[in-house]
Amino acid sequence: MKVFQTIVQIREKVQSFRAQGRTIGFVPTMGALHQGHLALVQSSKQNCDITIASIFVNPTQFNNPEDLENYPRTSSSDIEKLEGVSCDFLFMPSKEEMYPHENSIKIQLGSIANQLEGKFRPGHFDGVGVVVSKLFNIVQPDQAFFGQKDLQQFFIIKKLIDEVNFPITLNMVPTVREANGLAMSSRNLRLNSDQTEDASLIYKSLLKAQKMLLSHTPILEVKAKIEELFSTQRCLELEYFEVINTDNFESVNDVVEKEKIAMCIAAEIGRVRLIDNLMLIS
Ligand code: PAJ
Repeated sequence: MKVFQTIVQIREKVQSFRAQGRTIGFVPTMGALHQGHLALVQSSKQNCDITIASIFVNPTQFNNPEDLENYPRTSSSDIEKLEGVSCDFLFMPSKEEMYPHENSIKIQLGSIANQLEGKFRPGHFDGVGVVVSKLFNIVQPDQAFFGQKDLQQFFIIKKLIDEVNFPITLNMVPTVREANGLAMSSRNLRLNSDQTEDASLIYKSLLKAQKMLLSHTPILEVKAKIEELFSTQRCLELEYFEVINTDNFESVNDVVEKEKIAMCIAAEIGRVRLIDNLMLIS
């Protein structure tokens, strides 16, 4: 796998493949790669001729400097992992390459970006919108692959693609989980083994909520049950549990369009913040 650090190099490479009529699949990441990221690469490889991954810990999407500083950076093992799944190219730019001047552009994606994660991490999705737009313009892929793990991010990218008219097909790849159900995340590296076990409550509670909703339990009752489950667990602090419509990520009071309903959750364990979600019909 060839690694490119500059925009000029990756553009040149992409143009040569385009000239040969080959399709390009793109998997943007922030590194500290795990099986979840690799599933995106594998999906891209199945759908496109050439797969390009990127690793860039994007400062503009972190509203908490401590979180940015603590974000794991494991580039040599990331490269090995990408080679293990035969990724073709890696774009790994420096901060100066991506932001030679202080970033002064904002991409505001309306109210969908102010719900859930947007509420708890103000400005987060503005930063995601900017960096993903830049990466799309640099790599110019035919298809892009994002994980269901970050469901709200997926729908925000969908909106970005629709509204800015990027000629890119967006693909959602299902969440890859640990054996105990915990969604794989780069942040899991900061959990000890007890915390990893305790954090499995996040997925268990989503399954419980799904079962209750499918058997027509009112949403308020479901929310109360989930809050109760978390209150019996000292180490995990529930930040939110919401039943939302994926059109706008607003909370719903009733299950009307079943196929658009998702349950989204965020919880903190130690100082590690974890998110997960489940579509009502999965
Ligand atoms: P990052 O958190 O590194 O995630 C990169 C991609 O991997 C995202 O599409 C995310 O949804 C997906 N992913 C993470 N964990 C997953 C899992 N357990 N199963 C399936 N997919 C998973 O998301 C970002 O980086 C950034 O915001 C980025 C889009 C790169 C912009 O900076």
